[in-house]
Amino acid sequence: MNCIHIIPQPASVSVNEGFYTCGDSSTRVWQPEFEGDSLFSAEIRTVNTQAFLSVKEPETTQKIHCLQDPAIEGTEAYDLDIETNAITIRASSREGMYHGMQSVRQIFLAAAGSTEVPCVHISDRPRFAWRGCMLDTSRHFYSVAFIKKLIDLASLHHLNVFHWHLTDDQGWRLPVDRYPGLTEIGALRDERRSSWGKTIGGFYSNEDIREIVAFAGERHVQVVPEVDLPGHASAILAAYPELGCTGGPYHVEDRFGIFEDVLCAGNNDIFTLFDAIFDSLVELFPSQYVHIGGDEVKFSRWEACPKCRARMQELSLDAPQQLQSWITGHLVVMLRERGRTAIGWDEVLEGTEKFPLPQDLIVMSWRGREGGLEASAKGHRVIMTPMTDGCYLNFKPLDNDEEPGHLEVCTIKQSYNMEPVPAEMSPEQEALVLGGQCNLWSEVIYASRIAEYMLFPRLCAIAEALWTPKDQRGIASFAARLPAHRVLLDRLDVCQYRGPLE
Ligand code: ACM
Ligand code: ZN
Repeated sequence: MNCIHIIPQPASVSVNEGFYTCGDSSTRVWQPEFEGDSLFSAEIRTVNTQAFLSVKEPETTQKIHCLQDPAIEGTEAYDLDIETNAITIRASSREGMYHGMQSVRQIFLAAAGSTEVPCVHISDRPRFAWRGCMLDTSRHFYSVAFIKKLIDLASLHHLNVFHWHLTDDQGWRLPVDRYPGLTEIGALRDERRSSWGKTIGGFYSNEDIREIVAFAGERHVQVVPEVDLPGHASAILAAYPELGCTGGPYHVEDRFGIFEDVLCAGNNDIFTLFDAIFDSLVELFPSQYVHIGGDEVKFSRWEACPKCRARMQELSLDAPQQLQSWITGHLVVMLRERGRTAIGWDEVLEGTEKFPLPQDLIVMSWRGREGGLEASAKGHRVIMTPMTDGCYLNFKPLDNDEEPGHLEVCTIKQSYNMEPVPAEMSPEQEALVLGGQCNLWSEVIYASRIAEYMLFPRLCAIAEALWTPKDQRGIASFAARLPAHRVLLDRLDVCQYRGPLE
């Protein structure tokens, strides 16, 4: 191997004379300043046939030195030097050291079968602070093992946010002590599409969630939970029909789409529910951010409901849509009181004539870039995940009936070309762009093997869009690095799409 094939492409790479030999079993990790981080050696050892051992003495041959260097600016930045008989990573923090180690891990994994990697100096840091991946665990339920595998793979690509979509019409996956029906009833649905119909679903226990949060934390990945309110609420209503406008009956949906029944905006009991949900959430998730959903709320029930109409009158509202911004405002404050920051899908920008959005609400722009443009113009921080620009990985990777996925097509090239800062943004707006993410909605992704196929390698392309400086990006360079990266993914037992890039 005479080239370095890291994805995402580092900020700066200069290849030097000579090679480091990594094919034998004698590489050691020396990390006195990062003593507690067993991952540096252990994780690499478990995925690599080459033995990595943590050692106390620095003077071992074939070693990786992990050195704390306050001169490296930026918590996630690192410098990496590969020389003929040593590898040195310098970082000022554990995050930076972790990212440096992931780059080494990639180099060694991709070097499978080869014994040499070129000497190189890499100086690396992320372009954006928010580099995420969302998984919908409502439409289909995924095991703790798969979620951990995904988080590990995401962190290998320098992603640092796992956005966990925990609730939707087709299943509620989060335990809430004061509302046991959410998981006893809301987590299960009758499969109505086959005559032998069975009940499917599940939820994550408190222990499962703590295990995933801890696993992610070791990898410097923040787990951001999402509870989708006040729409996409069939699973809530199936368990607590009194919280809907009509009183039901309701069932946990096994169809996909957008449903008329949402939480009743005229019923004060919805706030008791929100309190209980947030109390449970903040116990389980240390994340600064909590996603409150807010997408695709239908207003027909509110329009017809006497309680909702009375609420509109009491608040002097002109349209039922304005009830949503009233609810959003409450959700933001309830999280703020718990020391957390709310994120909402871009529909939260609508119907805000009477209740302007609280300034600390972060807007996630998904229907296109417009939500991000509007929100940043209004001074909100934004996260870009436009389905029109390569971020929806449930779309087919190729325009072909043989391919899994649904709704639209999203090629690797489209994901690669995702640009979190649209050209129309002013410098002030650009400063409000936290970053971006890819999303995997799981309506038609009923097994984790298929999820992997949808995610890889498009997740790798998105990772580069979020990490690499804009002037270092290019689809030709990505395409040249991809074959070696596919070897790495194969070694990690990742099912991947192998068709054309566009
Ligand atoms: C969404 O795709 N409904 C956020
Ligand atoms: Zn109502």
